[in-house]
Amino acid sequence: MNIVAIVGSPRVHGNTNYLTDQALEEAGKLGLETTKFDLTQYQINPCQGHDECGNFNSCPQRDDAELVLQALYEADGVILASPVYFFNVTAQLKALMDRSRFYRRHKQRMKAKCIGIITVAQGGGSEATAKTLLDYIKLTATVPTERILQVHALAKTEGEIAGNASAIEEARSLGKSIAAELLAS
Ligand SMILES: Cc1cc2nc3c(=O)[nH]c(=O)nc-3n(C[C@H](O)[C@H](O)[C@H](O)COP(=O)(O)O)c2cc1C
Repeated sequence: MNIVAIVGSPRVHGNTNYLTDQALEEAGKLGLETTKFDLTQYQINPCQGHDECGNFNSCPQRDDAELVLQALYEADGVILASPVYFFNVTAQLKALMDRSRFYRRHKQRMKAKCIGIITVAQGGGSEATAKTLLDYIKLTATVPTERILQVHALAKTEGEIAGNASAIEEARSLGKSIAAELLAS
């Protein structure tokens, strides 16, 4: 059983990465294999909008999108994590979401049985960001609503979240709950 986390922050030592690590650590304690894709360390180009890509054997773009998407679509559990940028996910995460249209065009959905959402905002926009992610999950996965778990935290400066005990606890609990769901299924 494994969990794949996708992190959209450009800050490798940022708040979203910190909370995601907390969640994965708890899942790891319960025996799950965990992998984190820090999108800022991968080359994911924007979708080029080939409406006919359903007829292609592969996306014509040669970058890291396929590597990340394959892991995401095969995972037993998934965490989608992003800072809030102008009331939405970051461009890094949005690029990956757009590139997954190739999978949709090939009628493939994520295999995940449980999905976690983590957002970090300075002040506002986590609801709108969560809606973007929930809409995306609806179109790309088959998990029922009760198996979509969410943590929304507030922080501004890099690493600030490390001092927020309740956000850390929520993230750890999210990781534990995803792992428990997977182990029970
Ligand atoms: C380009 C940009 C846009 C942002 N937009 C918002 C926003 O709409 N709402 C908000 O509350 N915070 C916003 N922020 C603040 C970040 O969400 C906040 O700093 C967060 O902690 C960053 O997470 P990270 O450390 O994981 O990168 C923005 C920051 C940047 C750089």
